[in-house]
Amino acid sequence: MQSGEEVSISVVLDGDDPERMTQLAERLGLPVSRNGIGTGSEIQIRFQYGCLQALCLGSDGRQHLVECDLMTSSAQQRRARRGRDLLVKAVQGRQKGPLQILDATAGFCVDATTLAAMGHRVVACEASPFVYELVKDGLERARQQGLMLLPELYHQNVIEWLQANRLLTPDVIYIDPMFQPSGKKALPDKQMQLLRQVAHVGDFSSLLELCRRRALLRVVVKQPLKGGRTVVSPDYSIKGKRVRYDIYGRVEGNG
Ligand SMILES: C[S@@+](CC[C@H](N)C(=O)[O-])C[C@H]1O[C@@H](n2cnc3c(N)ncnc32)[C@H](O)[C@@H]1O
Repeated sequence: MQSGEEVSISVVLDGDDPERMTQLAERLGLPVSRNGIGTGSEIQIRFQYGCLQALCLGSDGRQHLVECDLMTSSAQQRRARRGRDLLVKAVQGRQKGPLQILDATAGFCVDATTLAAMGHRVVACEASPFVYELVKDGLERARQQGLMLLPELYHQNVIEWLQANRLLTPDVIYIDPMFQPSGKKALPDKQMQLLRQVAHVGDFSSLLELCRRRALLRVVVKQPLKGGRTVVSPDYSIKGKRVRYDIYGRVEGNG
């Protein structure tokens, strides 16, 4: 397993809650800085205006702030689309009732929250400790703002989570691997730029194989519209304007 976390990260103590940030630095084993000065790190994490924020240098050369905000109008609009959302269609198939869903690659939990809003029980695993901290904070703020249907987030590599929870058999497992940069000029959004720097990168084919043995109904993989990490042909795909969802049936075997 490789990890994308070779980028230097420091924790800024000036801000609303220095004690919380000191604990976070200890938990993640990261150096601390004051006013972001003195570490020369590429990414700084701070707590300001009641939320955890990452300060990072974008690929446009500008410094920008990234936080996990699940209450943006676009996230809310997406949840409001309900059964018309392509991911919801791909995951639910013809099933009507609530499903047990494992989001194997939580990221910023936008997809997991969209699925949870449909009444499904969603467990989400995030391997990167840095992303996990940002998202845990975002989920907590969403809860405080009244969003109750939320995923249950674990800081764990999903392969280890599946091995540690052998008796749990999700109906559907969803995988959203990082897309390879397309080479097109438009910059990916700020959250995606940050994920490209800090996300965990593992072996996709063994993850897919394990998930197919554990999901009771199907595995859904998000892919760019063309290409992507296709190691085995999917049973079928659902295509949107920018992405497609590849759907794989269960395979028998020990997971
Ligand atoms: C493209 S992002 C997912 C974005 C997500 N669907 C969302 O709605 O925000 C992929 C995420 O999966 C995480 N990841 C990759 N492999 C993983 C694994 N084996 N276990 C847990 N998390 C993993 C990465 O660290 C990254 O944060």
